[in-house]
Amino acid sequence: MASKIAPMVFRAAAARCCSKPAAAGAAGAKVAGAAAARQTQIRALSATVSRRSDTLNVHRNTPDNNPDIPFKFTPANEAVIAEILKRYPPQYKKAAVMPILDLGQRQHGFTSISVMNEVARLLEMPPMRVYEVASFYTMYNRTPVGKFFVQACTTTPCQLGGCGSDVIVKTIQEQLGIKAGETTADGLFTFIEVECLGACVNAPMVQINDDYYEDLTPETTKSLLAALKESVNDVSKAIPAPGPLSGRQTCENSAGQTNLLSEPWGVETTRSDL
Ligand code: FES
Repeated sequence: MASKIAPMVFRAAAARCCSKPAAAGAAGAKVAGAAAARQTQIRALSATVSRRSDTLNVHRNTPDNNPDIPFKFTPANEAVIAEILKRYPPQYKKAAVMPILDLGQRQHGFTSISVMNEVARLLEMPPMRVYEVASFYTMYNRTPVGKFFVQACTTTPCQLGGCGSDVIVKTIQEQLGIKAGETTADGLFTFIEVECLGACVNAPMVQINDDYYEDLTPETTKSLLAALKESVNDVSKAIPAPGPLSGRQTCENSAGQTNLLSEPWGVETTRSDL
């Protein structure tokens, strides 16, 4: 315990010591101001598109997202909710907030303030508790997204794997004509960059709605986006199956099998050199 407290004591003492000249008068304040200016450093630590700092945690009413827009679950989804609630003791039904928010997002297209309020009403929770959950987990889209929500992983393994996520991001932006965080004018595609989606072994990859598309190249990315766009007006248009687009089944060695090539030994067989 002493070893944990000691550094704090030293830091506090040092802060007091350094603040004394500033308290001594205008000259001290000038020195402190100059020191503060010297300490101010601006570093570009990330190339990710910047967002307004309150985008993730502040709700602002808009014509398509305000509490006056009514929202009710469909009868089919009410049956699903009844099923979900059976998993929790009645006094803890607020524990179902996440799956029911997800259901609301799937029905409405995004997690609007009305969806959150309805979930709060159903689960007898203060609405603020639901807002806290929805604004903490980024899988809840609190603003409308396009029909195809394209999330490109740009974490290190995807940056380094295959052709690299930088190339994939550039391809997506060129193909769709939008930047990260934007939606196409026809409302079909929303594109964002995200952190690791857990498919690093098949990098680079994107998630589109609920599906993963992996082992991407610029060519497969372009044809995937084109197929999705065409499928809107032509339901017969084939969309590539989710998974690796390189021909791999899962994450097996793309060079083929390189070990375990001999016949497995039977229980009665031993090595001849023993
Ligand atoms: S780093 Fe992209 S899926 Fe893990």
